[in-house]
Amino acid sequence: MDTSIGTGNPIDRVEGHLKVTGMAKYSSEFPVDKMLYAQAINSTIAKGEISSIDISEAKKQKGVVEIITYKNAEKLKTPDKKLPPLSTTSIQPVLQSPQVHYYGEYVGLVVAETFEQAQYAARLVKIKYKKETPKIDFKNHRADAYKPEEESDYSRGDVEAGLAEADQKLEATYNTPIEHHHPMELHAVIASWENGKVKAYASQQMINDAAVTISNTFQIPKEDVRVIAPFVGGGFGSKLHAKQHVILAIMAAKKTGRPVQLTVTRHQMFTNTNLRQHNEQKVSIGAAKDGSLTALAHEIVSHTSTYEEYQEPCGTVSKMLYKVPNNKVTHRLVPVNLQTPFAMRAPGEATGSFALESAMDEMAWKLKMDPIEFRIKNDTQTDPSNDKPFSSRLLVECLRIGADKFGWDKRKMEPAKNTNGNWLVGYGVSGASRAAPYQETSSKVILTLKDGTVLATIQMDATDIGTGSYTIIAQTASEYLDIPVGQVVVQLADSLFPVTPGSGGSWGAASYCNGARMACQNAIKELKQKLNVGDEKKMSVKELMTGNKLTTYEAQGTAKPSEAFKEHSVYSFGANFAEVWVDKDTGMFRIKRMLNVGACGKILNPKTAFGQIIGGLTMGAGMVIAEQTRVEPNFGNFITRSFADYHVPVNLDMANVEVVFLPEEDKIANEMGVKGIGELGITSVAASIANAIFNATGKRMRDLPITPEKLI
Ligand code: MOS
Repeated sequence: MDTSIGTGNPIDRVEGHLKVTGMAKYSSEFPVDKMLYAQAINSTIAKGEISSIDISEAKKQKGVVEIITYKNAEKLKTPDKKLPPLSTTSIQPVLQSPQVHYYGEYVGLVVAETFEQAQYAARLVKIKYKKETPKIDFKNHRADAYKPEEESDYSRGDVEAGLAEADQKLEATYNTPIEHHHPMELHAVIASWENGKVKAYASQQMINDAAVTISNTFQIPKEDVRVIAPFVGGGFGSKLHAKQHVILAIMAAKKTGRPVQLTVTRHQMFTNTNLRQHNEQKVSIGAAKDGSLTALAHEIVSHTSTYEEYQEPCGTVSKMLYKVPNNKVTHRLVPVNLQTPFAMRAPGEATGSFALESAMDEMAWKLKMDPIEFRIKNDTQTDPSNDKPFSSRLLVECLRIGADKFGWDKRKMEPAKNTNGNWLVGYGVSGASRAAPYQETSSKVILTLKDGTVLATIQMDATDIGTGSYTIIAQTASEYLDIPVGQVVVQLADSLFPVTPGSGGSWGAASYCNGARMACQNAIKELKQKLNVGDEKKMSVKELMTGNKLTTYEAQGTAKPSEAFKEHSVYSFGANFAEVWVDKDTGMFRIKRMLNVGACGKILNPKTAFGQIIGGLTMGAGMVIAEQTRVEPNFGNFITRSFADYHVPVNLDMANVEVVFLPEEDKIANEMGVKGIGELGITSVAASIANAIFNATGKRMRDLPITPEKLI
């Protein structure tokens, strides 16, 4: 039993033993009676219409129970207009028409007694299409670019005037390719429909949101939808909302009257669980001789699907990270025949900061200024995008302390001057910021007193997507109840539990823990009131239970952002440092060292926090060295269709990584002073590596990924 008390200790994950012993149940692993298996069928054209479907052969196969296509699918709610997929009114219609919008779109579902039978029969469904010419690469269809319905253009001051008065100007375009989320656990669901009620074990990041989507799509009360996901093997944004496979499984369960399991295959995760779109980002910067920024424009062009609208907010960092009087951000979208892009691993910041922090490095070099000093010169304690003070902002400290730890003084400012045999050695830096949102969160605590020991059970619909939610919530309850962590049981991710915002957007830790805190504090307060004891009197939970002659007691709590939170800009900040060695002849390069210094409020558990940042750094490195989805430009099919060709970094790529958290108190963020960590870790990492490559070689790499042939 863990006898430590409270947050701040680097304790092991409380659910760790369940995971390493295989006892943790993921969505497709729940034993459910009379379960059927489903296999989805994907379109083999990118645009057009289904002209005929022949299910005769498939239907004859042993074990096949049902085949669903647009012809016999239940009519679902369809949105009145193109809804953004991030909308909480999300609706996920599927199999509603013969139209095909992208290669791999779901066009059918086979339901059978076994997984193998479903898979086999799915291959025998013969579908013919009337093909049309698809639009695939948005760069060939720029004339179709439009301003998104959800207005996101922003400006302050006069960028043209700011550029005109600048002593140095830079205009550069950066490209980040299509990427895929690829959590280890495949998207999966086991759904049942009984007496008009849905129960779904579904690998989702946000339980309540999934229930809302299901309720909206089937037009049934949300109270009749139960979503359960005690363990989620990663999401990275792809599991934020319930997607079409969840709806397909529920549809099949309703039709067959039996529970249905549907797992999205790794192949299908390229076509059916969203992607990060290709962004083309033009950054224009003006600066005075002394390094003060006079203007900053960030113009983004990317693609969305033909049926939904998603824009990645790549300009977020440009609006708020530096003091610049004249600023402009624009987004334009080109509809193409690919599935809708969606939030992936720090949407906006990960890609936007690559452009901004590369451009800042380019400008520092033009000014012959140290890139750290250039950033510090343009620091601000007020968010220039809304004139609100930052609740806390230790960006300068992150840069300075990082420089010291990293040995920045050994960097040669002039590129290609630092060599080691055949290697060119370069140092790079970047500044990072990520919003630290915090949302209304509820929780329940159940206290029991047994054999003289208090046990506390915390319930909330929060998820643990591998981040450590179970552990930090247990530590929080332990702190506010003043009992050892080992006496706390945390139960998560069930719609029957109090509502939380779920895991996404780096709001999980702050929201969950403050929600759990409120339940614990309320329990103590209520138990004291029952005894007519003042709030200030110190009494243990055991004394309170005994004093009240109680063996069990339940309390609820809800935490929400304060007025102070709303009056401030609340962000986590950080700095990334990278040392890269580039082989002069082959262009092969190694990331020798990485250092991340973060200022993210109170660190609830240094071990899980470290894991979060390591994950972010790995993804940031992945953006540079490997990750890229290639599209066949005529058919719109993805060429990269498995981990054999969609590469991610391995341990050897990430050999030497250091993470430092600066101690920070931020009571404005929330009562516990917790700020988000998850997405800060990936933000601007790619720029620090690309900047190190420039320092090593003198070659500016503006298109990711950076592969060796680009460096020869
Ligand atoms: Mo995150 S991209 O909000 O899971």
